[in-house]
Amino acid sequence: MKKKIKILFATPEASPFIATGGLGEVAGSLPKALMKKYSDEMDVRIILPLYEGISSRDGFEYIGNTYVQLAWRQQYCGIYKKVENNLIYYFIDNEYYFKRSECYGHFDDGERFAFFSKAVLTILPIIDFIPHIIHANDWQTALIPVYLATKYFTNKDYWDIKSIITVHNMEYQGNFDLSIVEDVFDLSNKEKDLIEYKGAANLLKAAFEVSHIISTVSKSYSEEILNDYFAHGLASIIQKNSSKLKGILNGIDTLVYNPETDDALFKQYNYDSLHNKTYNKTNLQCLTGLSENADIPIIAVISRLVSHKGMDLIIEGMEEILKEKVQFIVLGRGDRKYELYFKSLQEAYRDKVAVRIDFNNDLARKIYGGSDFFLMPSISEPCGISQMIASRYGSVPIVHEVGGLKDSIKDSSFGSGNGFTFNEKSSKALVNTIRRGLKVYENKDDWSKLVKEVMRKDFSWENSSEKYRDMYLNLIN
Ligand code: GLC
Repeated sequence: MKKKIKILFATPEASPFIATGGLGEVAGSLPKALMKKYSDEMDVRIILPLYEGISSRDGFEYIGNTYVQLAWRQQYCGIYKKVENNLIYYFIDNEYYFKRSECYGHFDDGERFAFFSKAVLTILPIIDFIPHIIHANDWQTALIPVYLATKYFTNKDYWDIKSIITVHNMEYQGNFDLSIVEDVFDLSNKEKDLIEYKGAANLLKAAFEVSHIISTVSKSYSEEILNDYFAHGLASIIQKNSSKLKGILNGIDTLVYNPETDDALFKQYNYDSLHNKTYNKTNLQCLTGLSENADIPIIAVISRLVSHKGMDLIIEGMEEILKEKVQFIVLGRGDRKYELYFKSLQEAYRDKVAVRIDFNNDLARKIYGGSDFFLMPSISEPCGISQMIASRYGSVPIVHEVGGLKDSIKDSSFGSGNGFTFNEKSSKALVNTIRRGLKVYENKDDWSKLVKEVMRKDFSWENSSEKYRDMYLNLIN
């Protein structure tokens, strides 16, 4: 039998255990897809912190414990394991660091994730899994490749381990005060250069320098981040390391997001039973207090309400948008100014605009199912997942051509396509694009043809998991 490639996928979050955003979705679905398709070639395992938020611990098995040395600290490290769908998950337990109500946003996040990163490397002999590749994700795990390169390179069990850092969003780099480099990150003065960037400690920068591969979540974004506007100050480091740079588009778990089986829907449907999608639409209108009328197109926004998601473009264009015969639904939380804006918009247009300031998975699914258009005008979007989920539910995406939005949605005006797109970052372009969509909506035959086309587009991990496999194989050969 051929020897399997061993991969340890290190992540600060993974659904269904814990997910605060897109990374959680990806970590929850990519390793699963790899093990479904390639388990005869590879053994992929996942490791993440055991947060308080992981409430259901059915089937968790206690493996043992050890102590992790972080500079002068000796910290307890418990190890749990859970097997699900042929996949092994490891959880790092330390109540002092992880028994807190939120995953991130604490004064000592640097220390918490330095501990996690060191713990991942410390426990390998205990779990008896020395991987060929450690695949780290985002700044929270960025110290793993750094410790491999600085602390473990003389250890013969570890020196062949290759590292990949995947960045899901360049906005979050893990920036900390230089004063904690030695005392918390446990890096000597000599190693300081590696982590120092523009007067601060920058974990992502250090990982970019030492990892064997830098990957990101779409081809377009991997090109965009050569430019500082998208790289948030790290462009020169990416340019310097561009020979290591890869971009692979995310997929979604098409079993989890499937209108044929989704219990959250008012009625399940597929592209041969679109009348049941209409049933979802009128029920959604009823639920959200919009006037009930199957002929009025519903435009949905499900998003964090923050500037890089393009909220200002929406606001600037809103007056024009609402001149049309449309309804508008917004679900999300975010910056207070946007929350207030949308709430007052709802006050002013009760039967036309419905706003829910919330994270609500059940309602999100009802909105994907009941809406006609899904608006996602992000200013920057590494990949984006919602436009793929919306497509699966037949809500036609309207997107700004950046990053993963550009790579996943093609404009349908010129023959084949699966949505409506605009290139110019302006509310005028956004409004014009919505109007182009509404024109198609007016013609029932054209519209149902487009909805079917949109729903048929394959956003599963089928293609992308193969690209990850090739990346892993190339790296170790
Ligand atoms: C981040 C990015 C998003 C991407 C997700 C998963 O949340 O902002 O674009 O889809 O990570 O990679």
